[in-house]
Order: sequence, then structure tokens, then C-alpha cells
Amino acid sequence: MAESPAVFLVILRWLHVVAAGLWLGGGLLLLALRARGLGPGAVPSMSWGRAAGHTLRLGVAVFIITGALLTAARLAEPNVPAAYVVLLAGKIALAFAMFWLALPRSRRGPAPPAGGWSRWARDRTFWIVAIALVVYLLSVILNELIERAALSIG
Ligand code: HEM
Repeated sequence: MAESPAVFLVILRWLHVVAAGLWLGGGLLLLALRARGLGPGAVPSMSWGRAAGHTLRLGVAVFIITGALLTAARLAEPNVPAAYVVLLAGKIALAFAMFWLALPRSRRGPAPPAGGWSRWARDRTFWIVAIALVVYLLSVILNELIERAALSIG
């Protein structure tokens, strides 16, 4: 059946994009809580941290599996522009830097009080959200590049 690979790719894409939206939305929500002075310590339940850890790992697994399959499907297409391959490599490097930043770490006690930018510069969630926004933008550019290449040969 010729449609089944297309249906499979649509499902992969859907999972990938839903994961991206939840990742960015979750990060923005955490930042909004931080801005109101609500850190993880403000959440009383111990199981919350564990649930967040599981969700994070699941999200990273979804990105890596669906991302790898989408990459394989795209690179198998004819006339993939060189710029696409370079941007995709940059996107993947940034995505892994972001996953590394999101790894759970043991707490090193309260950070010294700081205001303005230096407070955000020390906040890992801030950098995760900032990188996620760049990764999002690169993804949209990748889509544009491949669609233009497909139109020019189609
Ligand atoms: C291992 C990591 C990842 C790999 C290998 C990967 C790979 C890909 C590939 C190949 C595409 C298809 C691009 C195209 O249309 O040609 C894609 C789409 C997309 N990716 Fe990723 N990705 C990864 C992680 C992420 C992350 C962490 C985010 C966001 C936080 C993200 C957001 C998106 C979005 C929004 C699209 C859809 C773009 C569109 O159709 O307009 N990806 N990804």
C-alpha cells in the first residue's frame, strides 16, 4: 500500500511536533513559576519530582526516535540541499546540548540572590527555553528549505 509510509510519517511528525510544543510550553510554565518565586521546593509532593523526571525522559526519547526516523526519511529524498544538511546537523547539536542541560542534577544549595539578567543567566530552564526557541526556528526553516527544493524539481 503506497499510503502507509505517508501515514507513518504523518504520525511521526505529529508525535514530534506535539513533543516540541509540550517541551516549550512546559519550559515557559516553569519560567513563569520561577518569576513568581516558585521553585521546585515550593511543590510539596515528593512524587512530583519523580513524575517530572519520567516525563522529561519520555520527551527526550520521543524526540530522538521520531527525529531520527524523520531525518532518515528526509535524507532519502532526491536533491536534499546542502544547507538543509548543515542546518539539520546544527539543530541536532543544539537539541542534544538542551537535553544535556535538562538532565536532573543534585541541588547545590540556594543560589546567591541576584537580580535582572544575572538571575536568568544562572537559570538552566531559561537556557533550555532559549535553545528550544532556536531549535523551533531552525525546524521551520528546514521545512521551508525542503519544500522549496521539492517545488523546484516537481
Ligand atoms: C534528536 C533530536 C531531533 C532530531 C533528529 C530532529 C529532526 C527533525 C526533522 C528531520 C524534522 C523534519 C524537518 C523537515 O520538515 O524537513 C523535524 C521537524 C520538527 N522538529 Fe525536530 N528534531 C529533533 C529535536 C527537536 C526538538 C528538541 C524540537 C523542539 C523543541 C524540535 C522541533 C521540531 C518542529 C517544530 C518540527 C516541525 C517543523 C515544521 O514542519 O514546520 N525537534 N525535526
